[in-house]
Amino acid sequence: MTKVISILNQKGGVGKTTLAVHMATALARSGSNVLLLDADPQGSALDWSAARSGKPLFPVVGLPKPSIHKELPSLAQNHEVILIDGPPRVYDVARSAIMASDLVMIPVQPSPYDVWAAKEIVDLLDEASVYKPDLKSAFVVNRKIVNTAIGRDVSDALAEYPIPVMQSAICQRVAFAESAAQGLTVFELDADMPASKEISALANELCDLLSATRAKVPA
Ligand SMILES: Nc1ncnc2c1ncn2[C@@H]1O[C@H](COP(=O)(O)OP(=O)(O)O)[C@@H](O)[C@H]1O
Ligand SMILES: [Mg+2]
Repeated sequence: MTKVISILNQKGGVGKTTLAVHMATALARSGSNVLLLDADPQGSALDWSAARSGKPLFPVVGLPKPSIHKELPSLAQNHEVILIDGPPRVYDVARSAIMASDLVMIPVQPSPYDVWAAKEIVDLLDEASVYKPDLKSAFVVNRKIVNTAIGRDVSDALAEYPIPVMQSAICQRVAFAESAAQGLTVFELDADMPASKEISALANELCDLLSATRAKVPA
């Protein structure tokens, strides 16, 4: 059965595309047959893929439409995991992505503004729970500043929402933007650097949440 993971937040710039391409890469590196669906009309994941000169690890397909949940079954053939990189603001597309998903991952930056803005996606998930009682969801703190308490503070603040916060956080690291410029990921810059290890840990936690039976991503 194909597993579908959406990376959603109605707020822009929180790291949806960054985490979508990195989760897709981590899962592809562990042997899963992955498809990345770009549901943002801005097409950032498609741009990332077009900037790449080397062999793609997985296909990236653009579908910034509210018909994702209807079209997904035909796209799902031949793929074990589909990651959906969500759009900011567009409600009907986000709703459609939620309807298509087994799990929704919500990146939030360690700032009170992000905690407040997360209410929009929490409300959308709440609305969808009637139709999708088994849908899983989790926050992930992105751009945590190393050696500050703000990451923990934001996790505490997010506890007011009925959605768990993933244990693995991703720190603010320049390697994310540097690698993106060439359609690469942090793994291809250096698979042993902290950014790569954080991404592997997050991907493993994601697999655990999905209770996937596949082999784990190497740390
Ligand atoms: N952990 C991180 N460390 C450093 N820069 C990051 C990190 N996550 C995202 N960015 C940068 O922040 C910007 C917005 O990220 P992006 O993934 O495009 O967000 P979204 O898709 O939610 O709009 C990009 O320039 C990206 O390179
Ligand atoms: Mg994006």
